[in-house]
Order: sequence, then structure tokens, then C-alpha cells
Amino acid sequence: MADRYSLTCYDLVVQFPHASRPALDGVSLVMSPESVNVIVGASGSGKSTLLMCLAGLEAPTKGRVVHGDVDVYRLDDRQRAAWRLRTIGLVFQNSELVPELTLRDNIALPLELLGTGRRDALKRADHLAEILDLGESSKRRPSEVSGGQAQRAAVGRALAHRPAVVLADEPTGALDTTNRHAVIGLLDDLVRAEGSTLVMVTHDEHTLPKNARIIRLADGQIMGDAA
Ligand SMILES: Nc1ncnc2c1ncn2[C@@H]1O[C@H](COP(=O)(O)OP(=O)(O)OP(=O)(O)O)[C@@H](O)[C@H]1O
Ligand SMILES: [Mg+2]
Repeated sequence: MADRYSLTCYDLVVQFPHASRPALDGVSLVMSPESVNVIVGASGSGKSTLLMCLAGLEAPTKGRVVHGDVDVYRLDDRQRAAWRLRTIGLVFQNSELVPELTLRDNIALPLELLGTGRRDALKRADHLAEILDLGESSKRRPSEVSGGQAQRAAVGRALAHRPAVVLADEPTGALDTTNRHAVIGLLDDLVRAEGSTLVMVTHDEHTLPKNARIIRLADGQIMGDAA
């Protein structure tokens, strides 16, 4: 498992133009490999902004994001895109799968983008589809499967290339209780098996991964941090 380094941010500040106060206001965190980090906080507290900064998708006004020896926002756009593709797996609230592709092909996609041959990419996709209990739905397109199946496929796609860091923004926000537990359990098992770092935003403090560290945000600042 290459690339298993701590993901660190130092004094992150994000000030959006015309906003009266910063969305992030001095956030520093160290998240180690194999750690499960959950970010909670009221709407507007900066959770998604923090996740996007960690993903290399939102350049902070101030501060740094560092993974191993990579200072993410010192990279130029092309280098950062390449780093992101290799290092980060993203899961959103609504699976955001490619509508034209089957679930299986969606899961294989990041691997193919990284240059893995189609055969091997599909082999890995089928393996994940089995773990994710997708059954026959794996051969169907997102519009032809349930929300829970689509979201499990989104988890598969995020993890297919064994990213060092998995970032999930309310991954169970659109699911019922049974599917919520299934998706959290799978995410948790898979990141632990791969030694990845998981950072997950949630509103649902009833469905948390085991032994999660809970980071509480309020008004762009860390208000609590407990294992
Ligand atoms: N692109 C943007 N331009 C201006 N302001 C923004 C932008 N994105 C977010 N904000 C503001 O930054 C603050 C933090 O937003 P963020 O989306 O990070 O909150 P959140 O904690 O994820 O909320 P929610 O739980 O509703 O998803 C909010 O006040 C929001 O209005
Ligand atoms: Mg959000």
C-alpha cells in the first residue's frame, strides 16, 4: 500500500468573495492513515468547504493542505489534478454516477482513467460489486437501480483505485435507515481493509462508523475533536 501518509491541514482559511465572514476560519487537523474522521456541524458551518479543500478542489485563501511530501496547493493545476485522481476517492450525497454507464463500468472508470487495462479494471469492479452486494444491478445503468444500489456503486467507484484518502460528503443523506447502515458499514470496512484515511461529513450522528473521531465545526472553526 503506497501513499499511506497523514493528511494534514494547517490554519485553513477560506474567504469567499462578498461573504461577510470566512467559510473556514483557521482549521488545522492531522488525519492519519487508517483513521476514520467524521465532520459534523450545523448547515453552513463549513463542512463541505473543508472537504473540498482537502480534496484539492478548493484553494484556500490561506493555509496549506499536505499529504506526505505533497503540498497540495503548491502544485500547478495539472499536477494537482493528477494527484487528486490518484490519491482521492470522493463520494457525494447523490451518487453522481455517469448515467450512460452500467454500475460496473462506473466502478471501473477511475481505474481506466489511471491507465489500468479494461480487463483488470472490470475484474476489480466485479470484485467490489460483489462486496457491495450489487448482484444483477451491477449490469444496469444508474436510472435502472435503487438509490441504495446507486450509492453503493458510488462507494465502489470512490474506492476502485485504492485511494489513500476517501472523502465523503453526506454519503447517506438520501438513503433510508437500512441503506444508511449498509453504506456506512461498507465504507468503514473497505477503508480499513485498504489502510486509507476516511473523512466523512454527516448530519446523522446515529449512524457513525466504529471508533470514529468526531470533529465538530461551528462557524468555520473546530469546536470539538474527540475519538
Ligand atoms: N461558492 C461559494 N460562494 C460563496 N459562499 C459560499 C460558497 N460555498 C459555500 N459558501 C458559504 O460558506 C459557508 C460554508 O458552506 P459549506 O457548504 O461549507 O457548509 P456546510 O457545513 O457544508 O453546510 P450544509 O450542512 O448545509 O451542507 C456558508 O455560509 C455558505 O453559504
Ligand atoms: Mg455541505
